[in-house]
Amino acid sequence: MEMGLNGKVALVCGGASGIGLETTRMLAAEGARTVIGDINGPAAREAASALRTAGFDAGDVTVDITDRQSVGEMAEQVYRSHGRVDVLVNCAGIAGDKLFVESELEDWLKEINVCLLGPMLCAKAVLPRMIEQKAGRIITLASDSARIGQARLSFYAAAKAGAIGFFKSLAQEVGRYQITVNVVSPSATNTPLRIRREEGFRQSMGEVAYADRVKRVLRMYPLGRLGEPRDIGAAVVFLASSQASWVTGQVLSVNGGFTMP
Ligand SMILES: NC(=O)c1ccc[n+]([C@@H]2O[C@H](COP(=O)([O-])OP(=O)(O)OC[C@H]3O[C@@H](n4cnc5c(N)ncnc54)[C@H](O)[C@@H]3O)[C@@H](O)[C@H]2O)c1
Repeated sequence: MEMGLNGKVALVCGGASGIGLETTRMLAAEGARTVIGDINGPAAREAASALRTAGFDAGDVTVDITDRQSVGEMAEQVYRSHGRVDVLVNCAGIAGDKLFVESELEDWLKEINVCLLGPMLCAKAVLPRMIEQKAGRIITLASDSARIGQARLSFYAAAKAGAIGFFKSLAQEVGRYQITVNVVSPSATNTPLRIRREEGFRQSMGEVAYADRVKRVLRMYPLGRLGEPRDIGAAVVFLASSQASWVTGQVLSVNGGFTMP
């Protein structure tokens, strides 16, 4: 299937690790000119360099998506080097793992800043030129925890649910410019973010109880396995492609059947 991504400029925020990194690779494999934006500058640089070594078109820029000035500078840099942004992927995320009663305002704000405010700032930075171009794709990573709720992830789920509401509304505002805005909603996917969280569980629960948890979690997935970054990347590539030109304002759960909202 022709994806129509050859030569398109794709900016992947949070692209230095996990789902963002694999998504960048998959977009690049479709011929996109990719730029990794990430707060971890050295990791972004290394990832882009590895992609170039593999024959792909990849650049990098250091950005803190929670900082308006930093996002503005990222956009300027990409417009200077690439002239346009056709696809924005909002992949940056942190998972605040705590019971709500044990959490503080600072925890909530951190999560809201990265998972809601950051994607809004990134969208704001690229939209004026997408409107001029009368074309664009914005894809944001949410989480099924936002769709069904999840203990210990309440403020993360709240921020992600906010992003879903925001991007659906934005889809209604910018559809007339042929800009599509969609959300991909994963469940447990094997990335550094999830591995860090699981390691915390393993240490606090002990080996036996943790092994039990792993089995229990797997039973919640009708397809019998957790996600891999490429499972999520494939959905992002589709939504970024010309094949998805009539898909907007949607939330696509990619989750092995964990939820069927
Ligand atoms: N892995 C999962 O199980 C899972 C499940 C549901 C949703 N998600 C979502 O998918 C997205 C990708 O997650 P992942 O598992 O690949 O995580 P990851 O930790 O592997 O990668 C996240 C990237 O975001 C970057 N980042 C964090 N804060 C940033 C900031 N302020 N500015 C710029 N970059 C920043 C990190 O440096 C990192 O490179 C996130 O939005 C996450 O919430 C992941």
